[in-house]
Amino acid sequence: MQTIDTYNFKGKRALIRFDFNVPLNEKFEVTDDSRIRAAIPTIKKVLAGGGSVIAMSHLRRPKGPTDKYSLRHIIPILEKLVGQKLLFTPDCMGQETAEMSKNLKPGEILLLENLRFYSEEEGKPILPDEATEDEKKEIKAELKEKQKIFIDKLAGYADCYINDAFGTAHRAHASTALIAAKFPNDKMFGYVMEGELKAIEKVLDKPEHPFTAILGGSKVSSKITIIKRLLDKVDNLIIGGGMSFTFIKALGGKIGLSICENDYLELGKEILDEAKAKNVNVYLPSEVMIADITDFEVAKTSNFENVTTKFSNIYEIPDNWEGVDAGPASIETWKEVVMNSKTILWNGPVGIFEVAKFANGTFNMSKLLVEATEKGAYTLIGGGDSVAAVNQFGLADKVSYVSTGGGALLEFIEGIELPGIKAIRE
Ligand code: 3PG
Repeated sequence: MQTIDTYNFKGKRALIRFDFNVPLNEKFEVTDDSRIRAAIPTIKKVLAGGGSVIAMSHLRRPKGPTDKYSLRHIIPILEKLVGQKLLFTPDCMGQETAEMSKNLKPGEILLLENLRFYSEEEGKPILPDEATEDEKKEIKAELKEKQKIFIDKLAGYADCYINDAFGTAHRAHASTALIAAKFPNDKMFGYVMEGELKAIEKVLDKPEHPFTAILGGSKVSSKITIIKRLLDKVDNLIIGGGMSFTFIKALGGKIGLSICENDYLELGKEILDEAKAKNVNVYLPSEVMIADITDFEVAKTSNFENVTTKFSNIYEIPDNWEGVDAGPASIETWKEVVMNSKTILWNGPVGIFEVAKFANGTFNMSKLLVEATEKGAYTLIGGGDSVAAVNQFGLADKVSYVSTGGGALLEFIEGIELPGIKAIRE
């Protein structure tokens, strides 16, 4: 298998799939550039080796071309981070794009427009309700043909293909997986992919014990498979955030208006039993901050400033109050577990950290991970929200590894072979 370190890029045009699906504000400025920053070493490696770069990515889930999701919005920050001007094509498939890629000189970077302006990228047909089965079949077949042309065109621009889009590796799309077959001897991972694989494999395959997983976020339902997989690997499981209330209710606690998935109460109990049987210590919050929120939407308009809060035993939340953050007593218990761990995986915030008033628990958890890292533990943070949290707190560079993947990381931990990885390896 080729690697970015051994491949000879001299005079070669490298088609690189990045994940530049980054948050933008209303002025279309990038508000978190982590994914763009992460892409720079791969770009520089190709350029330093005498090659040129054709960068491609998606941005959001547009239904067709729209300026709102144009990749031109990322040009200023990408130019600043890479330290040179870019060339930009207004599409992915036109004559101008073909010309520009053909004329690309070593040292130059060409950015293609958002791949998802073309339905060929995802290969997901839009099937009208009123279409007959035969018509639906025809629409699907037609898109498949168009997708082949799309892939041929993209592949035709370059001499080699690099997949560096870990965040999108769980999508079997044209540019993330299918195109790799066009470069049987000239395909490889970029540094982001290599780094992610190394970090996750270190945690999942050869963790130093004690190994602690911290899971948060609002829903148990989205984390079932992950929890089950982790129960075979970890010594400790800390469960925080919105999902903890489903477990607390399953254990007979009173959770007031806190978020809860009533359909998962039985499963919550089963998970706790399974953990016990596997000798995994489970740490649910003992104390939470609760808020007197009569109308969540109204409270949101004033950023919850006027909301009354207090701390409560998590099993005794009064009616009409809602759990919004982990309390100091929970953090104190978790601290001991985290500080005694050698490997820590954190996915999902332990409170509504987007609201300043409810961010303390997640901030303190971030600080615990920093302290554990300083003490020598290997700490991996992944998943959109927990990563946004450590970025918000300015602590991202103080832990061992921050993943650029959200859904992709979760699927990887679940044990699913990601199409973007398989396509390079096979
Ligand atoms: C992400 O942000 O999780 C990736 O860019 C994938 O985006 P998608 O869920 O729209 O495929």
